Amino acid sequence: MRFSRRYPWAKSVAIGIGAIALIIVAVTPLVDAVLEGWSRRDVELRSRLVFRSIEARVAGVIGAAQPSDLTPYLEYLAEDEKLVALGFCDEDGALRYATKLMPKTLKCEELPREAVESFDTLRTGGGRLLVSLFPISADSKKGHVILLHDLSFIDARSRQAQVYVTLALAGVAAGLALLATAIVLSFLRNWQRSIKTEIEEARLGTSPSRQRGEDTFFDREIRTLLSEFNVERRYTSGIKIEWSPSSLRTLLQEELPETQVVVVSNREPYIHNLRDGKIELQTPASGLVAAVEPVMRACGGTWIAHGSGAADRQTVDSNDRIQVPPDMPGYTLRRLWLSEEEQEGYYYGLANEGLWPLCHIAFVRPVFREVDWRQYSAVNERFADAVVKEAAQDNPIVLVQDYHFALLPRMIRKRLPNATIVTFWHIPWPNSEIFGVCPWREDIIDGLLGSDILGFHTQFHCNNFLETTDRFLECRIDRERASVVASGMETLVRPYPISIEWPPAALATQASVEQCRRAVRERLSLPPDAAVLVGIERFDYTKGILDRMRAVDDLLTREPSWKGRLVFVQAAAPTRSKLAKYSALRTEGFELAHEINARHRQGDYQPIVLNYRHHPPDEVFELFRAADACIVSSLHDGMNLVAKEFVASRDDEQGVLILSSFAGASRELSEALIVNPYDTRAVADALKRALVMPEDEQRDRMRLMRELIRERNVYRWAAQMLMDASRLRKHRRVHAQG
Ligand code: F6P
Repeated sequence: MRFSRRYPWAKSVAIGIGAIALIIVAVTPLVDAVLEGWSRRDVELRSRLVFRSIEARVAGVIGAAQPSDLTPYLEYLAEDEKLVALGFCDEDGALRYATKLMPKTLKCEELPREAVESFDTLRTGGGRLLVSLFPISADSKKGHVILLHDLSFIDARSRQAQVYVTLALAGVAAGLALLATAIVLSFLRNWQRSIKTEIEEARLGTSPSRQRGEDTFFDREIRTLLSEFNVERRYTSGIKIEWSPSSLRTLLQEELPETQVVVVSNREPYIHNLRDGKIELQTPASGLVAAVEPVMRACGGTWIAHGSGAADRQTVDSNDRIQVPPDMPGYTLRRLWLSEEEQEGYYYGLANEGLWPLCHIAFVRPVFREVDWRQYSAVNERFADAVVKEAAQDNPIVLVQDYHFALLPRMIRKRLPNATIVTFWHIPWPNSEIFGVCPWREDIIDGLLGSDILGFHTQFHCNNFLETTDRFLECRIDRERASVVASGMETLVRPYPISIEWPPAALATQASVEQCRRAVRERLSLPPDAAVLVGIERFDYTKGILDRMRAVDDLLTREPSWKGRLVFVQAAAPTRSKLAKYSALRTEGFELAHEINARHRQGDYQPIVLNYRHHPPDEVFELFRAADACIVSSLHDGMNLVAKEFVASRDDEQGVLILSSFAGASRELSEALIVNPYDTRAVADALKRALVMPEDEQRDRMRLMRELIRERNVYRWAAQMLMDASRLRKHRRVHAQG
């Protein structure tokens, strides 16, 4: 490592010393000149004084007819420390009198014997001498008195002065350096303290501890920089951030302060039912609810949904609102009531007999009835009115959920032009050829393009949407921005893979995995060492429930040694049971389970346990934790959050996930055993592989999947949409100013 890197201060010190040396070199000649001048003038004055004091006597001697010897007198005077020699030159240029130290080289005729006093310097071997010549006359006699003064003391004085100047300059420089260091250090210390406080406050998301006015210019600068940096750093995808309810709340406060969030979905997060005349609370089996509910708990706001529970009306206030979650209210649930006819046409008809099979490739023919379309449009209008009623400002963020509300974004846009509308399509979007069979394809696309942002789970579904729009609508597709510009308005089309809360709330109340294993096996009357495979979802034809039963059957047929040891537990929640396709599926499912069980039954043992009822979240989690493997074999699915819930439930890092390649989750959970649900043999092989997988391998796979879900949890899902919405709002504000 270079010296300057290790001692960064050394450079400054060297520069300081160099600067002082330069100053000394520059100042020394000046000091010398001043000293020389002063000292010389002193000596000249002194010479003059000496001359004045001896003038009369010297004149008396030289003017006498018989001049006496002046030398002794001059020798006496020369005893003075600085007076080296004295002498007298007569007018003929002869040195008439001279003290002993008068240099032999000094010749009177070479001296400038003028009519006025004169001074000159003489260099001798011993140093410098000041030669002072004073004209003197007595009667007719004239001459010059010579006084030689030693000037070497000036050089000594000059050297001394140089030392003093050097010391003084060094002292002043050192003093200034110390003072400057003290000032800079105290400044840096304050600055450091400010930065520390600001960083800490920014990190914890607390409000500034200093009062307005108390903070300095630097505090404000640091805060601005930090907040810009923070927002950029935290919210850009390149950098890991722990998304949680509190970081999501902070994001809202910072990026969308004072903004009302309104969610619209068909399914409500809390259903009040009646059981034996008593009100019972139910949380529906819905991926949408599992994802959006924790987000609303974190953000607050209003959730508008169809009030579908038998006791829903009894639990709302006069405005059809109820504060939820019931045990710790955090947001408002606004229930909207739908008549039988409305539900028939909008929910069962267009949404679930038309759009659902249209968007899922499960080879169930979609049904499109004009009457359903009319109900669907009318119900969308009713929800749009409800949004306007619930909007406390003219520019809320409205989060429209799912295929029940394809027309709603455009309707809200007409009523609240300044709202930011983010629509999320929870199911797949098919290719244009498939979507093209829908008689109202243009209306549906146009309705969705009332959104500012339209989200899907995967890039693939985004591409399908863009391709469909390009084909059926007069519009401009901006591939680079992934947006559609139609009727002068731009809609961004983005993938936002949905997820679950982390850690899942249901996990908090769970017993240990060992206890769960024991409890589930006891409850289902299974042998304690039975290998348990679970499947948990709504009894929907898209889920591939029958296909996985066939795979179990195949395994038991090919490898009968699994009989008595392997049990497949399917928890199937009742769903859309009024629809023929669903009731037929249920019947077929029970018949198939019965048939397989009959084929492989051994005493009390039967390989398939089909539980057709609603399973509350704790029961679902207990089943997940008791399982050796979980199968999610959807024939087609947007995401399939069950897969993520299973992984989240396994804090013991054990258990194997078998996952359909046609579920959106397979794009992220690549450590699962990925299968084609239509390939019965391959699924059966995957089942066996899961059941014999060594613990280490299970741990390695589970760890990676857990890590991914922990990072990409549902708060991140919501945050990404809200950040995009906020960016859009800022962008539009800036453009409106221009
Ligand atoms: O997956 C599509 C979806 O609408 C989800 O959004 C929801 O979780 C699920 O189906 C439940 O459907 P329903 O509300 O009809 O019971």
